[in-house]
Amino acid sequence: MNPENEPQEEPRRAAFATKKGEIVIRPHEYDGIQEYDQKLPNWWLLTFFGAILFYLAYWLVYYQAGWIKTDTEKVTAAITDIQNQKKKALEETLATLDDQTLVQEWANNPEIVASGQQIYSTVCIGCHGPDLDAPLKLGLSLVDGEWKYGNRPMDIFKLINEGSPADSTGMAPTGAKMVPWGATYSPKQIAEMVAFIISKNPDDFKEFQN
Ligand code: HEC
Repeated sequence: MNPENEPQEEPRRAAFATKKGEIVIRPHEYDGIQEYDQKLPNWWLLTFFGAILFYLAYWLVYYQAGWIKTDTEKVTAAITDIQNQKKKALEETLATLDDQTLVQEWANNPEIVASGQQIYSTVCIGCHGPDLDAPLKLGLSLVDGEWKYGNRPMDIFKLINEGSPADSTGMAPTGAKMVPWGATYSPKQIAEMVAFIISKNPDDFKEFQN
């Protein structure tokens, strides 16, 4: 190559500028703005292509291969796990629980009744009152001898655990319903509350005493 001819042979573009350490400006100009004609520095290109490669690897690992679990999947799995444990606990408790057991064993055990009372005093008391007679009419009275959803201990357990039935119109005149407390309390805790309620209504559950 003839060195004298070099500028003519090689167009004065990006590679030329880099080689010569010169700044070349492209011929166009818009609104007084001109454009450099240079190769981007390697560190910049590295981050640019690196980001593309990272995206591809991330997309493959997370969304295609599923090798690493997303946070949503982890949370869903943890919730499913808790729900299964609760379901198992409910089944285990229900397997040993019936009307007679609740009345004869649970409601006659002062420790169980005290535990039930303790939970009652933290949440239920707000609507059903300290004497269970619902003075503010925010819930039904639990000492009036009337059991709207069945007068067997297991009916009461079910109501507290699952809340008002789906087709219930709730309590007049507001239509207020019972929350499914099974979402908050374990089956054992609900049985303790039933024992407490039974202990306050000895006459209502006489028939299950033997
Ligand atoms: C926010 C108010 C509220 C709270 C708190 C509440 N309840 Fe109720 N409860 C109600 C309402 C309203 C009803 C009537 C539901 C219906 O008619 O469908 C009811 C009904 C009941 C009944 C049926 C009573 C009957 O006469 O048939 C029982 C048993 C009961 N609740 C127990 C509990 C227990 C135990 C707790 C605490 C874990 C509790 N409730 C907390 C509002 C409440």
